[in-house]
Amino acid sequence: MPIVNRVADLQAEIAGWRHDFHAHPELLYEVHRTAASVADKLRAFGCDDVVTGLGRTGVVGVIRGRKAGDRVVGLRADMDALPIQEATDLPYKSTVPGKMHACGHDGHTAMLLGAAKYLADTRNFAGTAVVIFQPAEEGGAGARAMIRDGLLDRFGIQKVFGMHSAPSLPVGEFAIRSGPMMASTDTIDIELEGVGGHAAWPHYGVDTVLVGAQIVNQLQSIVARNVDPLQAAVVSICMFEAGHTENVIPANARLRGTARSLAPKIRSLVEKRVREVVEGTARLYGASAKLTYTPGYPVLVNEERQTDFAASVARDIAGEDKVRTGTPPVMGGEDFAYMLEERPGAFIWLGNGDSAALHHPAYDFNDEAIPVGTSFWVKLAETALAG
Ligand code: NI
Repeated sequence: MPIVNRVADLQAEIAGWRHDFHAHPELLYEVHRTAASVADKLRAFGCDDVVTGLGRTGVVGVIRGRKAGDRVVGLRADMDALPIQEATDLPYKSTVPGKMHACGHDGHTAMLLGAAKYLADTRNFAGTAVVIFQPAEEGGAGARAMIRDGLLDRFGIQKVFGMHSAPSLPVGEFAIRSGPMMASTDTIDIELEGVGGHAAWPHYGVDTVLVGAQIVNQLQSIVARNVDPLQAAVVSICMFEAGHTENVIPANARLRGTARSLAPKIRSLVEKRVREVVEGTARLYGASAKLTYTPGYPVLVNEERQTDFAASVARDIAGEDKVRTGTPPVMGGEDFAYMLEERPGAFIWLGNGDSAALHHPAYDFNDEAIPVGTSFWVKLAETALAG
């Protein structure tokens, strides 16, 4: 496998950074320690410019090639961890109770740092490579915050690429697809108000447990009976809170969940039907419902030409038969979608081998994937900016 030789030499150092990030997980925008460490390293590598505080705690490094050029490519990693109690005995396990790197963002950050070190050292390209380290991928829309702070215009970024570890995909392999690859993630929050009372005199009350249960069931008819069976959508109610004891009908209930899809038309259809079902069902039983439907991350859509380009770079690194180009989309969300709404680019899965699932308390990014992912970044920048 043609791993870039000098990247292979960097593996232990990159793994060391990764373990340090893993031991010190930070959530959402509070990635102060991680961002400071990233910025220090980018300065030490000799980046031409290092900008901090973009999107609150995002960091950007600018690396100009040996040859001048107009082309600017953005490479993006995410820095934040998750509110999960780690369940491993790793020597570098989380030192922070209730927080851990369970999505591999420690590995993403370390690999992009490794690529930055290599690129700043060699500068074997024409134009500018911009390395982007964003906060708050896990629900905080850190990518959007960096865009709103001018990320793409300020650095003249023309194309953007992102990479994510993929458990179950063997180490040394990549997977990608053109078009929609990850789902939009909208949130559903329903507050029900009925009439509380004695469980033995239900006819004097309006039972919000019954109304909520009917809403949960009716919502399942949306995917089953409103969405084209050849399209993808998910409606999951994941929280249902009501009542405190066994003989009191509760006056209030609260339900929360998520709605996901891979196409704008389906996304708006699902929202419309959720509204109708919630309002209609509540009215049918004499309760009132307040629905807060909040748009989350957009559908992540890989642009066709940049997908082909990223796949060809991946094949150069991993070999012809190690890049799956028709990988099915998933219904998870990813805020790199905001960057792909603004610029052509692509998002690629990096094989992480046999490991616990993403967001599992025993997940640990696989260090064996470091040379593969780092080489991908290096090769991608050098190829996109070949002079
Ligand atoms: Ni992630």
